[in-house]
Amino acid sequence: MKRGAATMRRDAETGRVSSTESQSPLDADAAPLSPPLKWAGGKRWLTPSLAPIWASHRHRRLVEPFCGGLAVALGLDPRRALLADTNPHLINFYAWLQRGLRITLPMRNDEALFYRHRTRFNALARSDRAGTAEAAALFYFLNRTCYNGLCRFNRAGEFNVPFGRYVRIGYTRDFTAYRAALARWTFCASDIDAVGFSRNDFIYADPPYDVQFTQYSRGGFTWDDQVRTAERLAKHPGPVVLSNQATPRIRKLYRQLGFTLRYLNAPRMISCTGRRVPAREVLAAKNL
Ligand SMILES: C[S@@+](CC[C@H](N)C(=O)[O-])C[C@H]1O[C@@H](n2cnc3c(N)ncnc32)[C@H](O)[C@@H]1O
Repeated sequence: MKRGAATMRRDAETGRVSSTESQSPLDADAAPLSPPLKWAGGKRWLTPSLAPIWASHRHRRLVEPFCGGLAVALGLDPRRALLADTNPHLINFYAWLQRGLRITLPMRNDEALFYRHRTRFNALARSDRAGTAEAAALFYFLNRTCYNGLCRFNRAGEFNVPFGRYVRIGYTRDFTAYRAALARWTFCASDIDAVGFSRNDFIYADPPYDVQFTQYSRGGFTWDDQVRTAERLAKHPGPVVLSNQATPRIRKLYRQLGFTLRYLNAPRMISCTGRRVPAREVLAAKNL
């Protein structure tokens, strides 16, 4: 793993700390850092399938226009990366990880504290202070403590997810272990259309899932958004990998645009004629 020496590493999921035993920046065997947030649609489970594809493109810049919880970037550990997402609070949190965020505000699995912190976070967001370290720390706390780690905002842009129902939560306070890993990566809060691809980039795109046969579109990502994403990716002359729910229209869209498709079972289950079966995920690839 090409990252600078760190003295200590904390697993954000379990809160456990392990020593890194003087890792060199070229230590290829170090365990990847855990994604620091809970993130809907996180692809940690997919990185073993992506790693062999990425292996022959490691010299390239990794571009993720839908970087979400960073499971893929942390799992593949590129030297250079451009990581974008429309969620500005998420990107602000990563910008503070790059500066070695340490959280000092009180963090407990406590309902009254949760709503106090939520009110404060929304006040910062309203008052142009959404880019502060305090906002990043509050975003982390809300993500760990809210219902199912959801990230949802009302029309006024206020975070409105209620208190979660966890028995125990492990909070990380010291994120300095992430500083070296993220040092050479660029983060950007933008829509996919505004993300600048260079011709040699390796693109991994993980848009919100296509949900066919319902009115519901996750995160407001409509079918038109799926189509403009696919068309944009298809124009890239370098290697591209896309993952999505394997709905018939997604399969057809990517096949028509010249992608090669492969199918995987996702770890989540769906109902199919009364039975619980693994959801099907598609990996669409081009120019590998
Ligand atoms: C399925 S998640 C990505 C999960 C990520 N691969 C991971 O492993 O955690 C999709 C992400 O797309 C972001 N998103 C939604 N609409 C977007 C848009 N128009 N442009 C860029 N990002 C968008 C969401 O904020 C969300 O984080």
